[in-house]
Amino acid sequence: MIKKVSLEVISSQYIAKDTVEMVLKNDYISQDAVPGQFLHISVVGHTLRRPISIAAVDRHKQTITILFKVIGLGTQALANYQVGSLVDVLGPSGNGFPIEQLSSEDTVLLIGGGIGVPPLYYLGTALKERGIKVQSIIGFQSEAYVFYEQAFQQLGDTYVVTNDGSYGYKGFVTDVVDKIAPFDTYYSCGPAPMLQAVTNAFPHKQGYLSFEERMGRGVGACLACVIETNDDAGYKKICQDGPVFRANEVKI
Ligand SMILES: Cc1cc2nc3c(=O)[nH]c(=O)nc-3n(C[C@H](O)[C@H](O)[C@H](O)COP(=O)(O)OP(=O)(O)OC[C@H]3O[C@@H](n4cnc5c(N)ncnc54)[C@H](O)[C@@H]3O)c2cc1C
Ligand code: FES
Repeated sequence: MIKKVSLEVISSQYIAKDTVEMVLKNDYISQDAVPGQFLHISVVGHTLRRPISIAAVDRHKQTITILFKVIGLGTQALANYQVGSLVDVLGPSGNGFPIEQLSSEDTVLLIGGGIGVPPLYYLGTALKERGIKVQSIIGFQSEAYVFYEQAFQQLGDTYVVTNDGSYGYKGFVTDVVDKIAPFDTYYSCGPAPMLQAVTNAFPHKQGYLSFEERMGRGVGACLACVIETNDDAGYKKICQDGPVFRANEVKI
């Protein structure tokens, strides 16, 4: 259930170019959140909340980790929050990645691009805990933006791709799919063109996509986040029905 809560900043640091890792403490969200959900964060001085995915939780320490790229005024203001500050959050928000159907015999492929990488880390840790084999492809603009490579490697085989080839493989995440071992299900998060390319690369696989497109008020009323479905369901709202959808369920 979504609640309005205050989260205390435990730590905040830049871990790559324009990319902040922030650890927050809260006894409710840390116990309730599942992979794929996000925090809807109110930043002082800005009316609209900013959605940021949950990248990790530690239920014992009651902490939630988020990773965000500083791209505008809201994320810049959030990056300026000091240790001990309180962050106003609605959460845990959205529907997470479906994983109940997987068995410990299954192999999963995670494919993340840029700010789509963080929610896949939480997903990967949850899958590994269930004994599910994980492989990952993570893509970034260039070497300066790469983060969490070692963390993903601890989950399983990991391929890093950069658009300019300054680190890892050169190109797009879909350029390394021929290196991947056979898998059963994929989960992907990143910009819409990447999600389209991933869907095209695996037309016969079961897959789930998480959309991080811009949102409005995030409570299902403003229609700023609607997305057209490929079936009779008409339009769906990323903030309420997503951010995770089955591949091919919605028009990208
Ligand atoms: C469900 C969900 C989960 C998300 N999780 C993360 C996350 O884990 N880490 C992270 O870094 N970001 C994440 N985002 C994106 C994040 O919400 C935006 O980057 C943030 O709201 C931008 O706020 P701002 O005030 O800094 O930028 P603004 O001042 O609002 O915009 C600055 C510039 O960035 C562009 N922009 C704004 N939002 C987006 C967006 N969503 N996608 C692409 N361009 C955008 C604007 O068009 C503008 O050019 C997520 C978005 C959604 C919907
Ligand atoms: S953000 Fe307003 S309906 Fe989804």
